[in-house]
Amino acid sequence: MRIAFVGKGGSGKTTAAAVFSRYLAELGRPVLAIDADINQHLGQALGHGGAPPRALGTDLGWLKDHLRGTNPRISSAEAMIKTTPPGWGSRMVGLAPDGELLARYSGVAGGVRYLVTGEFDEADIGVSCYHSKTGAVELYLNHLLDGPGEYVVVDMTAGADAFASGLFTRFDLTVLVSEPTRRGVGVYRQYAEHAPGHDVALRVLGNKVADTEDVDYLRDRVGDALIGWLERSAWVRAAERGDVAPITTLEPANITALRAVLTTLDEQQRDWAAYHGSTVAFHLRNAVAWGNQAVGTDLAAQVDPHFMPGPGADRAMSA
Ligand SMILES: Nc1ncnc2c1ncn2[C@@H]1O[C@H](COP(=O)(O)OP(=O)(O)O)[C@@H](O)[C@H]1O
Ligand SMILES: [Mg+2]
Repeated sequence: MRIAFVGKGGSGKTTAAAVFSRYLAELGRPVLAIDADINQHLGQALGHGGAPPRALGTDLGWLKDHLRGTNPRISSAEAMIKTTPPGWGSRMVGLAPDGELLARYSGVAGGVRYLVTGEFDEADIGVSCYHSKTGAVELYLNHLLDGPGEYVVVDMTAGADAFASGLFTRFDLTVLVSEPTRRGVGVYRQYAEHAPGHDVALRVLGNKVADTEDVDYLRDRVGDALIGWLERSAWVRAAERGDVAPITTLEPANITALRAVLTTLDEQQRDWAAYHGSTVAFHLRNAVAWGNQAVGTDLAAQVDPHFMPGPGADRAMSA
């Protein structure tokens, strides 16, 4: 199951992604956290003090060659764009930590395995913006076969930027983290406008809630979309100062909120056919918008009409 935390900058996306990932790890669930934010703080929030792991977005040639495998429809890494869907011969990947991809790119912090997309750098500015980095996440998720009981937690970039790519359709649940403020719920409205028609399950997790007035405010503005709320937390504040404690010592009200998020996530059902249909639709749209011109071929030919990811699709590896 895949969950993305979105919301305005400073709302608590990274905090929520980190504590939720650590909560899952504490429960013994397989979990992979992914830092897809421009400001890369997830490792730190998980409790990592050292150098981050190798960034997924810095070695796209390797990543593309790895994922395209022996797929005859994708002639080279250069011909593979962020939306290129997997097909027969593609390498579908799983969450086993000893897999080649995770062995190469992932680190561990606070008991959680995690990937980072890499910092925004000079080369990105004006050319491809941050999308080349989040594009690596999109590619990765398009080739990931995660089953029920396995979790991928993504800390997304601020605002509604994610809608500029197909990334926002890659999740079973999108949780908008919102403080009980007008700007917080404003971002929710933005998302709620984009979500229909894309099969996006969008819910709200309140954050930095101080009292029942805050809860009433959120409930009044977002209604049933509210799945819970994190209170202003001394535990989080201490972690911010470098004093990272076991997740079991998080305030009980905040554990309750994490449990509510997990319950909502587990209730989601992935429809692999609809999911793959959306992968293909985004690819065709990108092909026409810029991909065909950039690569110099008709990228619609990369779509394999006989392939669908899902249970058993790893057989596609050995074409
Ligand atoms: N529930 C909370 N209690 C106390 N501090 C919090 C809480 N949630 C977030 N913070 C603090 O607010 C700041 C912004 O949070 P962060 O998770 O980095 O936001 P975002 O990733 O959305 O930009 C950080 O300093 C973080 O420690
Ligand atoms: Mg953040």
